Amino acid sequence: MPGPLTCPGRLIVIGILSLLVVHISSAAWSNEVSDIQYGRLGSTVTLACRGSRKGFPVEWRVNGSSVVEQQAGALDSSLSLPSVNSSMEGNYSCHDQSGALIHALQLRLGHLPGHVNITCRLPNHFKVQCSWTQQKDSLLPTHYISSYITHNNGVLEVEECVQEVPGSHRCIIFHPRMWIPKHMVNITEVNPLGTQQTLMRVDLHQLLKPDPPEEVMSMGVDGQPTKLLVQWRSPESWQPEDRPHSAFPLQYQLRYRPVGSQYWSMLYIEDNTSLMITDALAGHPHHIQVQAREAINPETQWSDWSQLIQAQPWIEPVTTVEPTTIPFLQEHITVPVRPSKEVTSGTFFPLMELFYRICDDIIGFMPI
Ligand SMILES: *[C@@H]1O[C@H](CO)[C@@H](O)[C@H](O)[C@H]1NC(C)=O
Ligand SMILES: *[C@@H]1O[C@H](CO)[C@@H](O)[C@H](O)[C@H]1NC(C)=O
Ligand SMILES: *[C@@H]1O[C@H](CO)[C@@H](O)[C@H](O)[C@H]1NC(C)=O
Ligand SMILES: *[C@@H]1O[C@H](CO)[C@@H](O)[C@H](O)[C@H]1NC(C)=O
Ligand SMILES: *[C@@H]1O[C@H](CO)[C@@H](O)[C@H](O)[C@H]1NC(C)=O
Ligand SMILES: *[C@@H]1O[C@H](CO)[C@@H](O)[C@H](O)[C@H]1NC(C)=O
Repeated sequence: MPGPLTCPGRLIVIGILSLLVVHISSAAWSNEVSDIQYGRLGSTVTLACRGSRKGFPVEWRVNGSSVVEQQAGALDSSLSLPSVNSSMEGNYSCHDQSGALIHALQLRLGHLPGHVNITCRLPNHFKVQCSWTQQKDSLLPTHYISSYITHNNGVLEVEECVQEVPGSHRCIIFHPRMWIPKHMVNITEVNPLGTQQTLMRVDLHQLLKPDPPEEVMSMGVDGQPTKLLVQWRSPESWQPEDRPHSAFPLQYQLRYRPVGSQYWSMLYIEDNTSLMITDALAGHPHHIQVQAREAINPETQWSDWSQLIQAQPWIEPVTTVEPTTIPFLQEHITVPVRPSKEVTSGTFFPLMELFYRICDDIIGFMPI
């Protein structure tokens, strides 16, 4: 029902209030279960009946019904559940002989935290982006502590890898120290049963891989049947946000081939975002791609190739145009004023057609 009860803010408030109530007076408990106990699947889990009086027997219930098999542990009023499986989760409560509630808790079962698979990317000199995936879902509430460790002249320095969106399985190392290329990324999985760290070595020089060049364009050159001029822009992510004109120089590699050919030809250029292909196959369309790499350090990686583009060198125009003939002109004159159906295809033309139709109608009704 769409009412105040569906509002999450309201629910949170109710949740907090019920927690407060529990802490203030546990006698006020009804069927509400606010204590959560976590257990490891397959292990023996012991539930304590907090608040019971020593020597007095208690009755355990789960989801409201009596627990049939009470273990020997029941001597001290606790309940022992051997090799638990997921169907044993639920709301457990212990009661005195009159049936009055003493203590209630919710049992949730899962696995110990595990290792994660980490991948890091460095598309420029100032932001390492790391992300990770759980190797195995622990079924329990989980969060991560992300940091990185640097060996600086024999001193270990630990710094935060910042999780901009908590819970997103991503973190960023801002302004990494490129002059100390070797770091260790530490992603620690934390859940109610414990913690597990995963360490991964990264070499920032080897990791540096720009994004592909952008806005690659190519065009023929008038009067030059074997030339193609290619232009592009350095990847947007390569420029520092605060100092857009102080980016490190890039080198580029360009590959091209006539459409249908198997073999690429390569060209190479440093610190320039245009290049002339001089040996294109006359009259043929070509496929062209560009990739980038930091120009200083050969240990760094080439970017992926840019999107494939197609271009054709200039073609000598066919110069067999006859002088204008009268039949041609006549044909032109007989063309109807209303645009033909073929012309009205495409995204823009339906509107145009509508416009013409309306105009036609109005003109049709207009007394001449
Ligand atoms: C267990 O307790 C919680 C919290 O009070 C409640 O939301 C849930 O419905 C209960 N589950 C069962 C199976 O009784
Ligand atoms: C869990 O264990 C109980 C008894 O130990 C068994 O009856 C039940 O089939 C098990 N459930 C699953 C899902 O393995
Ligand atoms: C308690 O109820 C929950 C939810 O209905 C169910 O998944 C769980 O198996 C029940 N626990 C027991 C021990 O019956
Ligand atoms: C994580 O890495 C391990 C070993 O490298 C691999 O076997 C596994 O499939 C990976 N898991 C995921 C979820 O990517
Ligand atoms: C990794 O991070 C965890 C959580 O902060 C920490 O306990 C652990 O000591 C770190 N590991 C190393 C090798 O520094
Ligand atoms: C880049 O190349 C073009 C021709 O390909 C040339 O005219 C221009 O001077 C070059 N720019 C730089 C900065 O080298």
